[in-house]
Amino acid sequence: MEGKDQWRVLEFYSGVGGMRYSLVKAGVNAQVVEAFDINDVANDVYEHNFGHRPYQGNIQSLTAADLDRYEAQAWLLSPPCQPYTRQGLQKQSGDARAFSFLRILELIPHLSRPPILLFVENVVGFETSDTHAKMIETLKSSGFVTQEFILSPLQFGVPYSRPRYFCLAKRNPSSFWCPCFNDKLIWCPSPLFVHDGEPVTFECLRPQDNWDKLLESCVPVEHFLEFKSPAGPKTAEYGFENANIVSRECNDSSKGHDERNGFSSTGLDLYHVPLSLIERWGSAMDIVYPDSRRCCCFTKSYYRYVKGTGSLLATVQPEMKGKGFPLKEQCLRYFTPREVANFHSFPEHFVFPDHVNLKQRYALLGNSLSVAVVAPLLHYLFTEPS
Ligand SMILES: C[S@@+](CC[C@H](N)C(=O)[O-])C[C@H]1O[C@@H](n2cnc3c(N)ncnc32)[C@H](O)[C@@H]1O
Repeated sequence: MEGKDQWRVLEFYSGVGGMRYSLVKAGVNAQVVEAFDINDVANDVYEHNFGHRPYQGNIQSLTAADLDRYEAQAWLLSPPCQPYTRQGLQKQSGDARAFSFLRILELIPHLSRPPILLFVENVVGFETSDTHAKMIETLKSSGFVTQEFILSPLQFGVPYSRPRYFCLAKRNPSSFWCPCFNDKLIWCPSPLFVHDGEPVTFECLRPQDNWDKLLESCVPVEHFLEFKSPAGPKTAEYGFENANIVSRECNDSSKGHDERNGFSSTGLDLYHVPLSLIERWGSAMDIVYPDSRRCCCFTKSYYRYVKGTGSLLATVQPEMKGKGFPLKEQCLRYFTPREVANFHSFPEHFVFPDHVNLKQRYALLGNSLSVAVVAPLLHYLFTEPS
């Protein structure tokens, strides 16, 4: 492809469009010619933000002729991750949710116009699955070279732990900027930022063990908050007007958690963690403070369950934080969907249509990806060595 031509891109499993935001952020001269997703609520959100409704069908039913018709040179795919998650049954290619991706792989050798570039995102664990083995075998036999990464937003200055697997593939004669990493699994972002003549570091070829150092270079959680006082951390009320009012309000368990759909009430009371939950699940909760430099991965079950689904924010004054103070006095709240979107480095103009309720918002965001991580990966993928 000539450097000045616009790439024609297909976005499979488009969800709320995290890949598309990453493509824009990467500054790639590209046009998404079609997006595909089976979920109508995700498609509502995508259409609301991008003015284009994704093709709403099962990706599994696409044919080689359908795909050829788009004349796309790049494919971006974030297939369902449940077949590979540690918490799941790990049925891998035997899980029905893996079938559509396997089908897409099967079609590649039969295309008249196979893509030149391919990008796949999934959970850590995918790289040891039989689906992965099938993907690599198909790509190799179709003339692709691959470079694979496991990266987290923490490595990009974002206080958010969400390690994910990425496969970048380029079809011959297209090649990577750093070919020395072909066929390798890379654990740090430095190859993405290597410039002409700079030495490459092979440190990246083993899992990173310098997480404490990384945390130091992350900006604090308070930078990602929707509700904060401009007065600064000492006097900030990170979401609650007054700590005394809050401890009464956030401990008000009379309001059923399940009734909270995002419309019954306005403001922060939607986000208070009820006392009943703190009493039952307190020991399993991951609590962070506005000055923390790490936050746990938000999953699609955030707000429905507290264990292992994402961090909760303690909104007390800094001097009241820590183990010395009981959890129920820490004024815990959930991060808002906007705040989760901020941790995913979504642009400020990303919004949900009004009819999408709170649980749906968390579920859609939990399924999405970190633009801070994917944008530099896409930039690297789309850049040809000069
Ligand atoms: C991991 S999420 C990807 C999210 C997306 N990258 C984003 O930024 O929101 C997987 C998406 O694939 C969709 N999906 C799953 N199986 C599908 C299939 N067989 N056909 C079409 N879409 C499917 C789901 O609805 C979900 O939105």
